[in-house]
Amino acid sequence: MAAVLITGANRGIGLGLVRAFLASDWKVIATCRNPDTASDLQSLKNTSGDSLSIVALDVDDQDGINRAVRDLEGVPLDVIINNAGIVEQEGYGSGAYEGIDDPDLRKYDYDQWEAILRTNVLGPARISGSFVENLKLGDNPRIVMMTSGLASIANTWQAGRYAYRTSKAALNMLMRSSGEWFESLGITAVAISPGWTRTDMGGPNASNSVEDAASGVFKVIDGLNKDDAGKFLNFDGTTLPW
Ligand SMILES: NC(=O)c1ccc[n+]([C@@H]2O[C@H](COP(=O)([O-])OP(=O)(O)OC[C@H]3O[C@@H](n4cnc5c(N)ncnc54)[C@H](OP(=O)(O)O)[C@@H]3O)[C@@H](O)[C@H]2O)c1
Repeated sequence: MAAVLITGANRGIGLGLVRAFLASDWKVIATCRNPDTASDLQSLKNTSGDSLSIVALDVDDQDGINRAVRDLEGVPLDVIINNAGIVEQEGYGSGAYEGIDDPDLRKYDYDQWEAILRTNVLGPARISGSFVENLKLGDNPRIVMMTSGLASIANTWQAGRYAYRTSKAALNMLMRSSGEWFESLGITAVAISPGWTRTDMGGPNASNSVEDAASGVFKVIDGLNKDDAGKFLNFDGTTLPW
């Protein structure tokens, strides 16, 4: 049975991905900051049994990651999805993708910007590196960076969401750069955008349901092979411009 580890799996797209992989008979290691309050995951556990494990993991916390690595020693992983992510809090929950933050750089919240870079860039770097031995035990091992269309430099000429855009563009570069190292270990790294999705982050006006985003991302991941290494893909399988 193929196995996937998903970060930020307690709600939103991460939870949708847990459901999509379980429905296709994958073993799912659903990680989240607070398993005790992850009620949707706990309910899924009641119906999924051994197919679903819930593991505490904060992608900002290297000590906690090291503990999870020790707990999962020797467990083969076929896919890691670096899904956990944050965006500017202004407008969060009501259309965080609609660019309603103040674009004046003099007023930007630089502490928040650093926190967003830490979670969205350093987090996936820490997770992907920390679990590399598990991936080496997997079949057709793949690392997925959950990126965004807002990371596309070619498509961007719009002020605002500086922290999120720069973090996801940096995440794409992390995928490309570490991708060569991963390739040398037999691991395929890609970046996939789930599209604008109705979650706490995406807000109610987004075009995709969680189910559509998750099933699209699942299909893309399921079809990945070594020739796809380094691609910036959309949830519908098309390639996005850098
Ligand atoms: N929604 C969209 O339109 C859209 C579009 C493009 C890309 N994306 C990307 O897709 C991914 C999922 O987005 P979403 O819409 O599902 O967001 P969401 O509804 O805001 O959920 C974010 C998830 O990330 C987790 N998380 C945040 N910081 C974390 C940390 N330090 N360690 C572990 N988990 C952490 C949250 O956990 P808590 O519950 O503990 O806070 C939550 O499970 C993100 O990477 C996002 O950038 C989303």
